[in-house]
Amino acid sequence: MASERTFIMIKPDGVQRGLVGEIVSRFERRGLKLVAMRMLTIDEALARRHYAAHVDKGFFPALLAYITSSPVVAMVWEAPSAISLARQMLGSTDATQAPGGTLRGDFCLDIGFNLVHGSDSSPAAQREIELFFDPDLLMNYDKDLDRWLCDSD
Ligand code: RTP
Ligand code: MG
Repeated sequence: MASERTFIMIKPDGVQRGLVGEIVSRFERRGLKLVAMRMLTIDEALARRHYAAHVDKGFFPALLAYITSSPVVAMVWEAPSAISLARQMLGSTDATQAPGGTLRGDFCLDIGFNLVHGSDSSPAAQREIELFFDPDLLMNYDKDLDRWLCDSD
């Protein structure tokens, strides 16, 4: 099955709460491959581009303040169906609706401070990866373990 890439970002609360290792570990243990990673503080211009779909919404000022408040960890992860898999691992936007076993269900209480971002579609993943990473920062490599993760080529 063809692999796809998704953009995952540990939000300021995840970094501040010391959950970077936990979050990265969950993606590693599930079997996704880490393709790129960088730490940065998002400025208003980047926040407006990343969350372009939300700029006219009532919650945008709070989202802007939150996402620019402290550093984030931006990552690209790869696997078959990586986009939907990662969204399942995150759980619902509103953490009160996120089941246990998901990141938001296990670590969050709130709709706003919800720990991790994940691309919601293939076009979004492509757009977001380009926004945060120059192409030469995306690694192409094989892991021997991959043949033990999927029963197909
Ligand atoms: P994300 O884009 O960060 O992965 O989150 P999502 O798809 O689950 O949720 P989305 O609808 O795209 O909303 C983006 C982020 O805005 C904040 N938010 N606050 N107070 C509110 O009603 C509200 N709604 C959304 C959250 O931080 C959400 O993740
Ligand atoms: Mg979203």
